[in-house]
Amino acid sequence: MEHTGLDRYAPIGVFDSGVGGLTVAREIMRQIPNEHIVYFGDTARVPYGSKSKETVTKYSEQIVRFLQTQHVKAIVVACNTASACALDTIEKDIDIPIIGVVKPGAKVAVSVTQNGKIGVIGTAATIDSHIYSDYIQQLDPSMQSIGKACPLFCPLVEEGLWEDPVTDEIASRYLSELIDVGIDTLILGCTHYPLIRKAIGRIVGEGVTLVNPAYETALELRALLNSNGLLNDRKPELGANQYQFFVSDAAEKFKTFANSIIKYGILTAKTVHIEEY
Ligand code: DGL
Repeated sequence: MEHTGLDRYAPIGVFDSGVGGLTVAREIMRQIPNEHIVYFGDTARVPYGSKSKETVTKYSEQIVRFLQTQHVKAIVVACNTASACALDTIEKDIDIPIIGVVKPGAKVAVSVTQNGKIGVIGTAATIDSHIYSDYIQQLDPSMQSIGKACPLFCPLVEEGLWEDPVTDEIASRYLSELIDVGIDTLILGCTHYPLIRKAIGRIVGEGVTLVNPAYETALELRALLNSNGLLNDRKPELGANQYQFFVSDAAEKFKTFANSIIKYGILTAKTVHIEEY
């Protein structure tokens, strides 16, 4: 769809169920450094991965309404679970460009696999939705994809156990069936997983290519903005409030975690009563 009348200097809205989407925001900051970002993390209602499609859709719609009050020119659904459960509903209702993380991740996996066996790991909601396997099949029906929910990975990441034997042990249990099938490509289908990619890589071995949908999403976002004449061509001025962060709860805790992921300095994180939107 062609989008006209939007302001190329307006911010991009990025949202997630909590802190994980910062891995996506970080990629956007790296790859399209002129852009301004309004990030929303639904820290009051996280996790989404154990909730129903209806609930995740309702939450996501509220967040999109909030982001629209911030006059964003485009929206990135950084959360895999929200991309899986809610994106198809949301995109019918809004008239600005919107992308999720699932399609870009699936696309690159299909392009890099050599043996056509692709593993997908994510939350229970993402894996149960079969969205990754559906896209992979659409792109190339000869592909075989094998999904595995890894619900303990998010708490391990949030506890900071990125390099800890307990993470390797759990990764080994979760990933053994994918290794047995002989996958050569693994999609990290959850915002948190890139943060433990070293542990995951140790378990699956060097022969398996790890796909980080965050990276691909930032590339696709740049292309989407460009094709709509919405790429920001002005370097942000010194001291400009380029990145703004909003959460639905526990702003201080969010800031601490966020500062460990994003080195640009999270100046403030404001609390929003998201259920009012
Ligand atoms: N952000 C979620 C995702 O990428 C993981 C955390 C959650 O379950 O809410 O699926």
